[in-house]
Amino acid sequence: MTDIIILSGSPSKHSRSQLAAKYAGKQAKEQGYSVSEICVTDFEPEDLLYAKFGSPAISAASQAVRNAKGLIIASPVYKAAYTGILKALLDLFPQDAFRNKPVLPIMTGGSPAHLLAIDYALKPLIANLKGEALQGVYLCDHHINKENPENPIADEETGERLRTQTNQLAEAIRRTHAAAAVK
Ligand SMILES: Cc1cc2nc3c(=O)[nH]c(=O)nc-3n(C[C@H](O)[C@H](O)[C@H](O)COP(=O)(O)O)c2cc1C
Repeated sequence: MTDIIILSGSPSKHSRSQLAAKYAGKQAKEQGYSVSEICVTDFEPEDLLYAKFGSPAISAASQAVRNAKGLIIASPVYKAAYTGILKALLDLFPQDAFRNKPVLPIMTGGSPAHLLAIDYALKPLIANLKGEALQGVYLCDHHINKENPENPIADEETGERLRTQTNQLAEAIRRTHAAAAVK
């Protein structure tokens, strides 16, 4: 069972949003959490295109998400929202798949013009799945250096924004589990 799952919603092979999410995942690992990743490209395209609810790969992913303590969801902005393929995957998850889970949303876009996509697109989707969305981080392409995947964040201020939100994810997980232990 993994503590934190990164759900990566970009179809790109060399994905900026995925690099940003992995950077956050690395910070969480340094705090003692186990982290693994599920990417939309892990699945057979037919499973997503034809909404195969019975697909073993989709069921396994959904179960892994259900067992996790927290999530990081990363998506590029496509046409002012998250990617269609991320939505196609999440459409196949149960309607309460994120229940009792703090969720860190991360989006990347070509420009700051769509930074509110986190608030008007991704957070409502997280809420619909009963997750508890944190503030989240929006990054522009120039904030991420794809040539340096081990240390992809191009400037200190952006790195700090990601670290702060990752700390909040870790703290929210601790709070959720401390509350559950008292019940
Ligand atoms: C089909 C498509 C649609 C896009 N639409 C937007 C958009 O509406 N607003 C924006 O700021 N960037 C847009 N972009 C740019 C991407 O969001 C941006 O380059 C992002 O960082 C790519 O992330 P990735 O490398 O994880 O796929 C679009 C890119 C593509 C390929």
